[in-house]
Amino acid sequence: MESTQPTWKLRKLFFFFILQACISFTIFTMSSKTKYLASPLEAVTTSASSKPDLIILLWNFRHPFPVNKCPKHFDISGCFYTADRELYPSANAVVMRHRDVCSSRKQLPQGRRPSKQYWIWFNRESPSHSPNLSFMDNLINLTMSYRADSDIFSPYGQLEEQNGTVNFTIPKKTKLAAWAISNWNPYSKRVQYYEQLKKYLKVDIYGKKNLQLPRDSHLQTISTYKFYFAFENSIHEDYITEKLWSNALYAGSVPVVLGPPRSNYERFIPRDAFIHVDDFTSPRELASYLLKLDKDEEKYKQYFNWRSMFQVSKMEISWMDNYCKICKALKEAPSYRTIPSIKAWFK
Ligand SMILES: *[C@@H]1O[C@H](CO)[C@@H](O)[C@H](O)[C@H]1NC(C)=O
Ligand SMILES: *[C@@H]1O[C@H](CO)[C@@H](O)[C@H](O)[C@H]1NC(C)=O
Ligand SMILES: *[C@@H]1O[C@H](CO)[C@@H](O)[C@H](O)[C@H]1NC(C)=O
Ligand SMILES: *[C@@H]1O[C@H](CO)[C@@H](O)[C@H](O)[C@H]1NC(C)=O
Repeated sequence: MESTQPTWKLRKLFFFFILQACISFTIFTMSSKTKYLASPLEAVTTSASSKPDLIILLWNFRHPFPVNKCPKHFDISGCFYTADRELYPSANAVVMRHRDVCSSRKQLPQGRRPSKQYWIWFNRESPSHSPNLSFMDNLINLTMSYRADSDIFSPYGQLEEQNGTVNFTIPKKTKLAAWAISNWNPYSKRVQYYEQLKKYLKVDIYGKKNLQLPRDSHLQTISTYKFYFAFENSIHEDYITEKLWSNALYAGSVPVVLGPPRSNYERFIPRDAFIHVDDFTSPRELASYLLKLDKDEEKYKQYFNWRSMFQVSKMEISWMDNYCKICKALKEAPSYRTIPSIKAWFK
């Protein structure tokens, strides 16, 4: 008599599991019909792995790159990316981009939150352009941004080490200085700096109401300039954008930067790879230094010496790279982590 009790319990447990499996299977097949999910072939490959998949839900995902098709070196084995919100209850992580969820709290996931689920806060904008940060209080587990102390560091660009044997050829220079700016705010530090500088130095301005930078040859155009102004729209720690990376450095022009202090730049690029406006007491002094360099070929060339040791990673870091990084980060994430206030940190 006594032995039937546990058997009955076991059976109940068994049916419970079968039921669970059926539900999961139904959700999985239903959702795989949505356009963002992987093709059936990929789904088979991922589910064939021994470990259960980590489901990574991209909240507000509108970018047309094929999810689950990350370049090999990211190794996304064991992860399954989706944009299907139906999978929210079983998602191991939900990735939300700040600008997509900052205009109302209703844009955040509303359903009951599974206790082991990670919410990953993703932001490419600077704090000056990140409203309503307090919405994130006591909700976020991992951060992903250009800040080097993010849980998932996603810079706008990076250098790769060279073995010192590569000779970089300085692109042919026919012009002096260029600046591309899309948002001309007359009260910003960068525009005010330029207003002073232009009295002493001719700068070609590209952007909306100015010269057009041809899309297909914008790097080529920038490469013909000796100097490129990489002036950030706001000044914040580590906020160093594609203006430095994919414009100036990748094109092979010497960056003149306005942004966080020199020491901050030197955490990412060698000290002789750029000119900082803070190196000079006035825009006038900067102008006279650039004009002097223009006449001194040898001194100008020294701004390229570092290129035998490092090279600029191919193009700017794409959306895809950012999302592809999440799988590995999630596998290595601490089992519990929570961030009381993004606002207190992201300044
Ligand atoms: C910040 O949140 C408030 C309240 O939800 C909203 O009215 C406002 O538009 C938000 N600000 C921005 C810039 O989205
Ligand atoms: C250095 O790197 C270049 C290209 O990156 C490669 O062709 C060369 O074999 C490397 N040399 C050494 C000594 O590792
Ligand atoms: C780089 O330049 C040095 C000196 O001009 C030369 O000796 C060397 O062979 C060059 N290396 C390559 C890989 O072209
Ligand atoms: C994530 O943070 C929330 C809110 O503080 C917390 O309830 C949850 O347990 C955390 N999850 C993990 C996996 O750390």
